[in-house]
Amino acid sequence: MAPMILVLNGPNLNLLGRRDPKVYGGDTLADIEAACVRGAAGLGVGVEFRQTNSEGRLVEWIQQAQADFAAIVINAGAYTHTSVAVLDALLACGVPIVEVHLSNIHQREEFRHHSYVSKAAHGMICGFAGHGYELALEAVARMLETGNADKE
Ligand code: DQA
Repeated sequence: MAPMILVLNGPNLNLLGRRDPKVYGGDTLADIEAACVRGAAGLGVGVEFRQTNSEGRLVEWIQQAQADFAAIVINAGAYTHTSVAVLDALLACGVPIVEVHLSNIHQREEFRHHSYVSKAAHGMICGFAGHGYELALEAVARMLETGNADKE
């Protein structure tokens, strides 16, 4: 069976499409999910796409991931910059992680430059709007194929 990738989305990402399209692009989260599902088929992986505005739910999904998923792609939204709880869950989750952001967080306000998620992620893709999710899936698929989830 194709390895399953869990794609997690944090707060306010349900508003994509009408939330600041100059910053986040015009795609809705459903558009991004559809592109990921299409892309995943060609990469030989499956995807499950989820969104929550709740920090606790995000932590629970990360804690449960290892049972059913080979890797996590995560856009933690604003929790990226604030949540030690999300970081601790990611550090304990036991599967490779790729971080994604629609916007280039390093070109934005200072408070968005720091990411707790980056401390647990293999790598980060940002600044490519919705296409960044497809790039993240490609990176994960390659890591799983080559067994190169550890940098050492
Ligand atoms: C975001 C960047 C975060 O700073 C912001 O809080 C978001 C979206 C991005 O995808 O660009 O909600 O994660």
